[in-house]
Amino acid sequence: MYILSLANQNLIKARLAHNNQVKSPFLQQASLAKIKKDSFEKSKKEELINQFHSEKIVSSEHLLDVVSSLAATIDAKDTYTKGHSAAVSRYAEALARAIDLPADEVERIKLGALLHDIGKIGIPEHILRKSDMLSDDEWAIMKQHPAIGADKVLKPNKSLHDLIPIVKYHHEHVDGSGYPYGLKGDDIPLSARIVAIADAYHALISDRPYRKGLSVQKACEILKMGAGVQWDKELVRKFIIIAPSLATNI
Ligand SMILES: [Fe+2]
Repeated sequence: MYILSLANQNLIKARLAHNNQVKSPFLQQASLAKIKKDSFEKSKKEELINQFHSEKIVSSEHLLDVVSSLAATIDAKDTYTKGHSAAVSRYAEALARAIDLPADEVERIKLGALLHDIGKIGIPEHILRKSDMLSDDEWAIMKQHPAIGADKVLKPNKSLHDLIPIVKYHHEHVDGSGYPYGLKGDDIPLSARIVAIADAYHALISDRPYRKGLSVQKACEILKMGAGVQWDKELVRKFIIIAPSLATNI
C-alpha cells in the first residue's frame, strides 16, 4: 500500500529531520481556516487546497494530521454535519475490521472515510447550508462533490492517490442508480461500498433541522430495506450486527 509504505519509509527520516515535529504550512492554514470557519471565503479555500497539494507527507502521524485537519475544515463549514467525517471514519473502520480486512486496508478505509466529502470544499456555501430541498440545478452541482474531491483535491497530491476510489465512488448504489458514475455491484470498490454504509448510517442517526436522529434500530431497518438496492447486501448484514456496539455520540 503506497501511503503506508511511504509513511513507514519516511518515519525515521522525519523524526531525525524534524525532531518528530512536522512544521507544516498546510496544518497552520487548516487551523486558521477552522478558526475563521464562518467567513471561509473562496480565496482561503483555494489557498488551503494549494497548500495541501504541495504538502510532503513525511510520516504516518503527519498523514493522519493532514487528513484530519482537512476533514475537520469541511465539517466546520456545515453546522449540520459537525463531526460527520470523524464518525463515518469510525463506522467504516469498524465494518472493515468486522469483515477481517488486512490492517493496511482498514487504515486506508479509515483515512478515505475521513475525506469522503472533501469535494464539498468546491460546492458553494449557499447550497451546502440550504435547509430546504435543493432545486434541480443545485442538486446537479451538489452531485459533483465526489468527482471534485477525487480529481481536484486528492489527485494532485500523490501521497493520497490510494484514497481516490473511496472519495470518488462513495455515492454509487449497487443497483446502478447512484452518482456520479452509475456504477453497479462489485464494479464499485469494496472500500467505497463500506464507506457508503457508514455515511448513510451516520446521516440517519444524526439530528437534522427537519427531523430528530433515528434510533439505532430504526436506522438499521432502513439499511436492511436498501440492502441489495442502494447498499451491498452482505456488508449491511455485517454492519447491523456491529451497529448497536458503536458509540453514537462521536
Ligand atoms: Fe458525500
